[in-house]
Amino acid sequence: MKIKTLLAGVAAGAMIIGLSACSSGAGGGDSTSAAKGDGGLVGVAMPTKSSERWIQDGDAVKKQLEDAGYKVDLQYAEDDIPTQVSQIENMITKGAEALIVASIDGTTLTSVLQDAKDAKIPVIAYDRLIRDTENVDYYASFDNFKVGQQQAWSLLNGLGLTELDGTAKSGAPAGPFNIELFAGSPDDNNATFFFNGAMDVLQPYIDKKILVVGSGQTDFQQVATLRWDGEVAQSRMEDILTSTYSDGTKKVNGVLSPYDGLSRGIISALTDAGYTVGASWPIISGQDSELDSVKAINAGEQYATIFKDTRQLAKVAVDMATALLQGNTPETNNTKDYDNGKKVVPSFLLDSQIVVKDNIKEVLVDSGYWTEAEITG
Ligand code: GAL
Repeated sequence: MKIKTLLAGVAAGAMIIGLSACSSGAGGGDSTSAAKGDGGLVGVAMPTKSSERWIQDGDAVKKQLEDAGYKVDLQYAEDDIPTQVSQIENMITKGAEALIVASIDGTTLTSVLQDAKDAKIPVIAYDRLIRDTENVDYYASFDNFKVGQQQAWSLLNGLGLTELDGTAKSGAPAGPFNIELFAGSPDDNNATFFFNGAMDVLQPYIDKKILVVGSGQTDFQQVATLRWDGEVAQSRMEDILTSTYSDGTKKVNGVLSPYDGLSRGIISALTDAGYTVGASWPIISGQDSELDSVKAINAGEQYATIFKDTRQLAKVAVDMATALLQGNTPETNNTKDYDNGKKVVPSFLLDSQIVVKDNIKEVLVDSGYWTEAEITG
């Protein structure tokens, strides 16, 4: 306890120094980031390196914080909850002045974030909302319900039913199309937002029997995929193909997948069951624009993904952290949708874009996210 009290004092002192450094150096709104920081430490906790996107997030946050004059302790927890808790505990012990956290399980950080609060360390939830605690100050993410809608729109678009923005196509086929549904990890707040957004779009088509969920599995709990694990999705897809489609009377026409890593598992299951890319290959959605999946879109294996620019997300989180460290109020654009069970967390939500084969260049290459060579190489 004594150590914590001491640390709290050190952290508070550091914040005061940061504040006075800022006010004496205030240059009238000049946003050049360099050298504004007080050289203090910011802790950045990321869930796992097993998914490419989090590596890009971590790299972008680290670089932007360093450019702004801060030191960074960037840690990955390989999807192990106790590891993430102890990494955050270590950041507090090392005297971090702010924490940026992409949680593994949004409900498991209550105790460690109480320690952060006791040490007066502000906490920013990164992409995934941290739940069940008062001690999360801001949330940087995307409009996650909309992301889910976009995933569903991409599926409908691939089936010839709508435009990419969800507008109904005239003369669209009547179906029925057989689809299967996948959702993300039940301990990730985003997973329900994605699924609810997608079902908001798909349910009317299911009600009209234009879409039929062949397996009958439509509840979030039935279709969720713990830890967003591609192998778990692959084996669930294998089970569905065996139980529902193996008598040869019908084929899967579309799969709602909320994340590229799951889409890749689903594609493997389909390939193993004898599906081949071509006319009767299903439409498969995704998310994150991971390189292997962008290649899969080019190859016609995956129909679409969602582009969430990790560089922009990093900028929002870094701007929030630096504002707090300089005694300013971070910019937010949503103060109603992200109730974490204890409070509505003020949020800044970015926009996302649907990527299909035709706009890969425009969305991903022209923005410098991937190079042409990376995609085709
Ligand atoms: C979610 C995130 C998605 C995807 C998924 C699996 O929280 O919003 O973009 O990355 O985790 O990592």
